[in-house]
Amino acid sequence: MLKYDNNKNMLKSLFRRKPIQSIVSSEFHPDHLKRTLNAFDLTIFGIGGIIGVGIFVITGVAAAKFAGPGVILSFVIAMMACIFAALCYAEFASLLPMAGSAYNYSYATLGEFIAWIIGWDLVLEYVVGSIAVAIGWSGYLVNILDVLGLHLPIWCSAAPGTVPGAIINLPAALIVLFLTVLLVIGIKESARFTAGMVFVKLAAVFIFIAVGFSKVETSNWTPFMPFGFMGVLNGAAIVFFAYIGFDAVSTVAEETKNPQRDLPIGIIASLLICTVLYIVVSAILTGVVSYTELNNPAPIAYALTHLGFHWGSALVSVGAVTGLTSVLIVLLMGQPRIFFSMSRDGLLWPWASRIHPKFKTPYRTQILTGCVVALFAAFIDIGTAAELTSIGTLFAFALVCGGIIVLRYKEPHLKRAFRCPFVPLVPLLGIFFCLFLMVRLPGITWVRFISWMVIGLVIYFGYSRKHSKLNGQI
Ligand code: ALA
Repeated sequence: MLKYDNNKNMLKSLFRRKPIQSIVSSEFHPDHLKRTLNAFDLTIFGIGGIIGVGIFVITGVAAAKFAGPGVILSFVIAMMACIFAALCYAEFASLLPMAGSAYNYSYATLGEFIAWIIGWDLVLEYVVGSIAVAIGWSGYLVNILDVLGLHLPIWCSAAPGTVPGAIINLPAALIVLFLTVLLVIGIKESARFTAGMVFVKLAAVFIFIAVGFSKVETSNWTPFMPFGFMGVLNGAAIVFFAYIGFDAVSTVAEETKNPQRDLPIGIIASLLICTVLYIVVSAILTGVVSYTELNNPAPIAYALTHLGFHWGSALVSVGAVTGLTSVLIVLLMGQPRIFFSMSRDGLLWPWASRIHPKFKTPYRTQILTGCVVALFAAFIDIGTAAELTSIGTLFAFALVCGGIIVLRYKEPHLKRAFRCPFVPLVPLLGIFFCLFLMVRLPGITWVRFISWMVIGLVIYFGYSRKHSKLNGQI
């Protein structure tokens, strides 16, 4: 009988939820962060997090190896998963203006266990995503330095196994450590820095569009799907990485002045702007060069060089390095805020939720994140990191979509500043597209993903469940 009761209690504890009313009405948590951001800041922040390695590097590989000119369609398919998820994110964000994004949303709706899974899973998006972007950043920087005649020794400019003679990717590690210092100093300062960089990278994208538009040869678009429709679908799973980042807007909810109004605007506006740009850029890219030539680390710069615009190619490279810096800032900023939130709830060790007395930032988790990302960025390759990031993010998106359905059912009368349209159809389509893209990722990525989640379960049952702040309350 006692055993039965214990099992029942254990099961109950897995589904205990943070009381949603207290979250919605508690404008300020005792350990709150400083509120300084508005809708414009958030849209810029979103674009800052989205346009990066995906369009500047991965599009070329996806076209050459998977989809051909059909990569345009791959971008549309990957966008479907994102737009449905973004609508769900926007509803949650307008309801629960708490730091920690999907983690917090699920804690109030799906219960502690699922919240833990999402929080743990998001490490893959933010930490592993940062690693991928830092490596891409380093690749473009080494390129620019080469053009300027400054040749970095091979041993310190790439990860072992990627180029003969390489030992450590020093530029990737150093940029991460530099940005970590910046983020510890303060979010508004970082947001300003991000805004400047977003304009430079948008300029690079527009230069490419302006120069490339009149040079499109429609013959390059045939055959449109040289690897068949399956190739287009595989391409969609690869280019999905390009869209990651819009959800990071929700991680700064607690630092936003009017979160219920501004978060949905920031999330949806940044995603839509980037979607249009991606479709136009991929159409022009595959229109000016044959897709067979695009398997290189800087396909957009390559296309401009191919057209004879060497100055344009140099400018785009500078724009790419700048753009990748802004993506790194956004991703590096997201992770510590999730750990901060989890620690505040007792699911991670309390030292992680200390705020810096002067800068008011979650400095401990920021520094920890920076060190881990720098270490891995120095030693692994970009493909491994990008695929692991995508699978983790897709899984989190699917759970967020599920959360919206559950919340409409459990809390139908809650005041929502933004309502996701056509529930449950939109969230169900979101789940479908996310799972569909996950299935198309390689088996080894699945093995890494499942291993990571198993480690998370050990920590949850070994520590978090016993230390949860909800113990004894619910
Ligand atoms: N969407 C981001 C990029 O493409 C992660 O770099």
